[in-house]
Amino acid sequence: MRTTPFTDLVGCKLPLQLAALGGVGTEELAQEVAAAGGLGMLPMGLGLPAHPAGALGMGFLLPYLPTFEGIAEQTRGARVVEFFWGEPAAAAVKAGHQAGALVSWQVGSAAEAVLAEAAGCDLVVIQGIEAGGHVRGTGPLDELLPETLASVSIPVVAAGGIGTPERVRELIDARAHAVRIGTRFLAAREAGVHPKYLAALIAGRAGDTVLTDHFDDDGDWPATVRVIRASLDGAQSVGNRSTLPAASGSEQPGMMPWYAGLSIDHVHRPQSAREIVAELTSLLD
Ligand SMILES: Cc1cc2nc3c(=O)[nH]c(=O)nc-3n(C[C@H](O)[C@H](O)[C@H](O)COP(=O)(O)O)c2cc1C
Repeated sequence: MRTTPFTDLVGCKLPLQLAALGGVGTEELAQEVAAAGGLGMLPMGLGLPAHPAGALGMGFLLPYLPTFEGIAEQTRGARVVEFFWGEPAAAAVKAGHQAGALVSWQVGSAAEAVLAEAAGCDLVVIQGIEAGGHVRGTGPLDELLPETLASVSIPVVAAGGIGTPERVRELIDARAHAVRIGTRFLAAREAGVHPKYLAALIAGRAGDTVLTDHFDDDGDWPATVRVIRASLDGAQSVGNRSTLPAASGSEQPGMMPWYAGLSIDHVHRPQSAREIVAELTSLLD
């Protein structure tokens, strides 16, 4: 299996990272991806397992950041601490380092990647506009990746709309040090997605997704997100602006965001996380 500066740094077998999936990511999903050789990520709020099955990280969202002491406490034992949505800040990076972890920042432009490196990050995720969920990407991944690779010397992970083994190989051939996958893992059996949301992911196509500013937690988190259009219609009909996605136990799943990237085209059926990892990395030699 192809090693890269990402696999060397993180100490995992595969150049693949599970995206932190706020509201629907689970410990089991992260553990299965880690056990399969990738970097498993937990969204903030979930505890790290006492016995990690491999490399695990935790993702924090800047609008809801705990105290720096809180970050250090929550992430003890994590291989990677990651931040998203906000200008890279040296103080946050220091908190991750104090927990003994590598620190990553998901960014939306090469300029922001430069700020992440300057703030002390050990790696960076460049997110293209194809991504599901909160979209910080300022353009297509194929434009942002080479610009970012030319601008920083830390490992660069490519994210947004990645759904096939061919695309994974193409990006690694284009010198991405790893790929980050969100939407494909929403159909993993270990994910905590509501059955109605899962059915929409399986039936949906890229053209059914839409970028919207509607879901902003009533003004607390103004941002652009990519969702399946039907969920936007449902949320607008009742005035729901919460960013919480339709999770397994949600009572009104049709009125909550169904986040999905353009990679929705490649979600065809429920699969195990291990199967998804094996499929996506099958063309790497
Ligand atoms: C349901 C869902 C929840 C997400 N939650 C987070 C999150 O909590 N933190 C984060 O950094 N990114 C989050 N993202 C964005 C991902 O990190 C990533 O950029 C995106 O999934 C990549 O595009 P893809 O979905 O086409 O693979 C989320 C994406 C989805 C689809």
